Amino acid sequence: MGFAGKGDGTRAGIDRPAEIGFKNLMSSVVEVGLGARSYPIHLLDEGSEGIRAEVARLREARRGCALLVDAGLAEAQGEFVERAFGDMPVLKLPGGEKTKSLEQLGRVWDFLAESGIDRQGRLFVAGGGVIGDLGGFAAASYLRGIDFYQVPTTLLSMVDSSVGGKTGINIAACKNLVGAFHQPRAVFIGTGLLATLPESEFHSGMGEVIKYGLLGDAKLFEQLRGGGPLSATSKELPEVIRRCCEIKAEIVRADEKEEAGSGGRALLNLGHTFAHAVEQAAGYGEYLHGEAVGLGLVMASALSRELGYLSETDVETIRETVRAYGLPVVLRSPVPTDALLAAMRRDKKVKEGRLRFVVLRRLGEAMTVDDVDETIVTALWRHYGGNNGESGKDFPG
Ligand SMILES: NC(=O)c1ccc[n+]([C@@H]2O[C@H](COP(=O)([O-])OP(=O)(O)OC[C@H]3O[C@@H](n4cnc5c(N)ncnc54)[C@H](O)[C@@H]3O)[C@@H](O)[C@H]2O)c1
Repeated sequence: MGFAGKGDGTRAGIDRPAEIGFKNLMSSVVEVGLGARSYPIHLLDEGSEGIRAEVARLREARRGCALLVDAGLAEAQGEFVERAFGDMPVLKLPGGEKTKSLEQLGRVWDFLAESGIDRQGRLFVAGGGVIGDLGGFAAASYLRGIDFYQVPTTLLSMVDSSVGGKTGINIAACKNLVGAFHQPRAVFIGTGLLATLPESEFHSGMGEVIKYGLLGDAKLFEQLRGGGPLSATSKELPEVIRRCCEIKAEIVRADEKEEAGSGGRALLNLGHTFAHAVEQAAGYGEYLHGEAVGLGLVMASALSRELGYLSETDVETIRETVRAYGLPVVLRSPVPTDALLAAMRRDKKVKEGRLRFVVLRRLGEAMTVDDVDETIVTALWRHYGGNNGESGKDFPG
């Protein structure tokens, strides 16, 4: 095993797990093709075997390792954490949106310094999207960037946040407003870890899964819609997770930094312009991210109908699918429409002062639109529970 690539920014040699015979351990691999920064997503039943082998390899190469782990995961899957990571220095932080803060970022930086992590060192980040985004940003910024591994353990982080290199934290003005693109060295997904995930968190992840079907794979959407709701123990779930990773990898490969004039990586934001406004205006923590995405998908489908793309039947189909996974299809309690609109205007997806939306051309195909009349958006918020005195909840979707 050589050190090809050491110091020259490439990822050959030591960084290719396949070299030490991982093939026997893996059930499936999806490659995120980004030239020299390409990396594998390993899909395994439990995940610890692959991680252990990687840790052993790093130890042999005398690289320091540290672990940032979600406290809820450490509690629910203590044996996995011990088996996978051994006795490297550990920082445990709670999941939940409030942890994606400047204060907690500072704690991770201090932890890395105290653990003696130098430029050759590696950070393993195990948990949901919150720990993944925070840990990824800590890795992007500590010593101007060290390498890290994503070990996603919620459905949402397996299908979405661990892949593609978006890292960051929230500040008071807006969610995810500070961050960096920083691709991991590898992603290790152990689908068996979902056995201990609370049901509400599983449903939250399904919000993103439904998004993938809607934006890029009509067959997947049909499977989610027609086959009865998937659960954490469904035998089809690993394949569904793999399909979502494939779609995301393909989109990220084509437009890593969301620079395409239209379409591109921005399509992954289907439902998110609405969702981020809900999360912010209702107060962080009131809605799980995927819950807000579920409502956002319903609203994006209604917007698509308003713009003449989807039929009322399509909108109804999407609404019933979102509802079948226990996700909200209207605001749970009224939120002032003004606050929702203001939150949308602060969103990163505003382009030259104009709101940018992702809409559906048809089920399974999305596109970006930049010139949506704000009165349509205001009417939609009112329809789905935005309030200036009236609740609006009686409307049918
Ligand atoms: N970077 C990206 O591209 C991207 C994409 C989508 C979402 N996100 C971000 O992801 C975040 C949401 O992530 P999330 O939904 O995973 O929430 P989360 O990280 O808060 O995790 C949810 C809960 O699950 C618990 N948990 C994690 N794994 C567990 C397991 N196996 N068993 C039992 N409990 C477990 C955690 O302790 C936590 O309480 C948001 O901040 C969102 O902005 C980022």
